[in-house]
Amino acid sequence: MTNYNITLLPGDGIGPEITEVTKSLLNAVCKRKNINLNFQEMAFGGNAIEKENNPLPIETLEQCKKSDAVLMAAIGDPKYDGIARELRPETGLLRLRSELKLFANIRPVKVFNALLDESSLKKEIIKEVDLVVVRELTGGIYFGEPKGRIQTKEFGERAFNTMSYSTNEINRIAKIAFELANERKKKLCSVDKANVLDVSQLWRECVTSIGNNYQQVELSHQYVDNAAMQLVRQPNQFDVILTGNLFGDILSDEAAMLTGSIGMLPSASLGEDGPGLFEPVHGSAPDIAGKNLANPIAMILSAAMMLRIGLKEIEAAESLEKAVSSVLLKGFRTNDLTSKNLDQKIGCLEMGQKILDELQEI
Ligand code: IPM
Ligand code: MG
Repeated sequence: MTNYNITLLPGDGIGPEITEVTKSLLNAVCKRKNINLNFQEMAFGGNAIEKENNPLPIETLEQCKKSDAVLMAAIGDPKYDGIARELRPETGLLRLRSELKLFANIRPVKVFNALLDESSLKKEIIKEVDLVVVRELTGGIYFGEPKGRIQTKEFGERAFNTMSYSTNEINRIAKIAFELANERKKKLCSVDKANVLDVSQLWRECVTSIGNNYQQVELSHQYVDNAAMQLVRQPNQFDVILTGNLFGDILSDEAAMLTGSIGMLPSASLGEDGPGLFEPVHGSAPDIAGKNLANPIAMILSAAMMLRIGLKEIEAAESLEKAVSSVLLKGFRTNDLTSKNLDQKIGCLEMGQKILDELQEI
């Protein structure tokens, strides 16, 4: 029996519902592979603000640091929109990423054949889409200094952030992206705004120079506005997309829609060493929380990424992914995945149960 310590961060909104479903599936798949996952649930985000007035309590951070992997659901609620930035749930997530030094965010975007008709884009466009967004996660405008708000005499209040990247930050994320591209279709598109921004000029120079060590990988560059357009025009031109923190945030939401719903997209955030953080790309969807309407698949697929990348339990990861794919092929859909009034439209818990049934068959 192999044992792993997993810190579980259910968070807010739909977070607890999708966590319950994911946990039972993880238990089922691991039991059959003789793996024991020891879950520690910790307060994080809005619920931690309620309990401790801190979105990332120190015990939560310590627990994350000493675990083998961290699995998170979603955080945030509009009721915190007005509070000080340091106390917002999102600030807790940014601090967690930064404290664990998770500079590489990997967001695979793969269209399931079963969902070809569910996308808002035509099926000829999204057919065969299988790309990965590699987003730099601990730098750029999210963390750049100086930042803040000041009162000016002349113009009233002024607010500012700084988009900055150093050579080291760009090089280390570029290497991750080139390595990934090398294992895949050997195509890497780096996305920046080098026609306008100094920071992007440096980005492009560094990526190009790292590319010299990966001659077998075809490197291209796109400006972010063009990339946003290309993603909906001809998404299967992409294999690996490498980009900075803010552009990656925006493009990965856009790319998510190629798969039919943002409720489908998992992610892994990784550092040089230490535990990775695995989380869906979507948010906490407070409007549907507690109604059994959420799609748990992004979190289930994030759990599969945790098994594969974080714990190197490839077989368990594959079983989980296969079970998801079979349930979709059988036509079962959560609300976000279909606009039709299907008999096979099911809730979060039922989706979990269907995937569990499927797991027993594999
Ligand atoms: C994401 C989210 C986060 C981000 C928020 C919740 C801080 O949108 O993971 O894409 O902007 O990185
Ligand atoms: Mg985002």
